Amino acid sequence: MAVPRHVAIIMDGNGRWAKKRALPREAGHTMGAKNVEKIAEAADNLGIEYITYYAFSTENWERPQKEVDKLMALLSDYMKTSIKKTTKNNIRVRVIGDISRLSQKLQKDILNLEDASSKNTGLKMQLAINYGGRDEIVRAVNKAYDEMDSEGKPFRITQETISSYLDTKDIPDPDLLIRTGGEMRLSNFLMWQLSYAELYFTDRMWPEFSKEDLKEAIDVYEKRDRRYGGLKE
Ligand code: IPE
Ligand code: IPE
Ligand code: MG
Repeated sequence: MAVPRHVAIIMDGNGRWAKKRALPREAGHTMGAKNVEKIAEAADNLGIEYITYYAFSTENWERPQKEVDKLMALLSDYMKTSIKKTTKNNIRVRVIGDISRLSQKLQKDILNLEDASSKNTGLKMQLAINYGGRDEIVRAVNKAYDEMDSEGKPFRITQETISSYLDTKDIPDPDLLIRTGGEMRLSNFLMWQLSYAELYFTDRMWPEFSKEDLKEAIDVYEKRDRRYGGLKE
């Protein structure tokens, strides 16, 4: 089978990576953030067209304020330092999730990076921030409802309607989901889009996940047999 067109990654295990080294959890997040660009470049070199990273979930607000603040600061830094790198690497960045709950400053940093990279024609990178799969579906249905309602006619919601109002509209569904950190769950990531993705779980913690580990995940994917409910011919 060909390389996956779209790879989604749940970057988990930053805290445990740090704890094992007697470092504060925040140090794990700093190292984890550094890995985002490296793995994106490796994905691009492997011929992957889309990469979607889970950076901060709608549930991650439950963490201690100090950790949330650190994550927000890292995201802000990322948006700023990425402008140069994405230009050099021809990467287009978009953020998915409900950014209205983020600080005005971070929202501005996000829009700046999206804008600066919008014409890049290489790898398409999505960063999921304040993202929850269920939240995204609810927002999509409400957006569809608002628009159709203003036309004043009754309507039916189809699968296509929902897809076309999701944050990932225009982006093909992921072919492969990779979760680092050893947990085997989706934690509310891309609940709609992952319906037929191949799932790959690894015990590697996100800060130590390497180009070779990505290659191994792709090799495993290439041996999978995707049937989509049908039969192999
Ligand atoms: C993933 O690492 C990063 C975010 C969820 C923001 P964690 O912070 O969840 O690390 P562990 O799972 O506690 O090791
Ligand atoms: C998932 O990791 C969210 C991100 C990687 C951003 P979590 O660490 O929040 O997931 P749970 O709590 O173990 O399910
Ligand atoms: Mg975790």
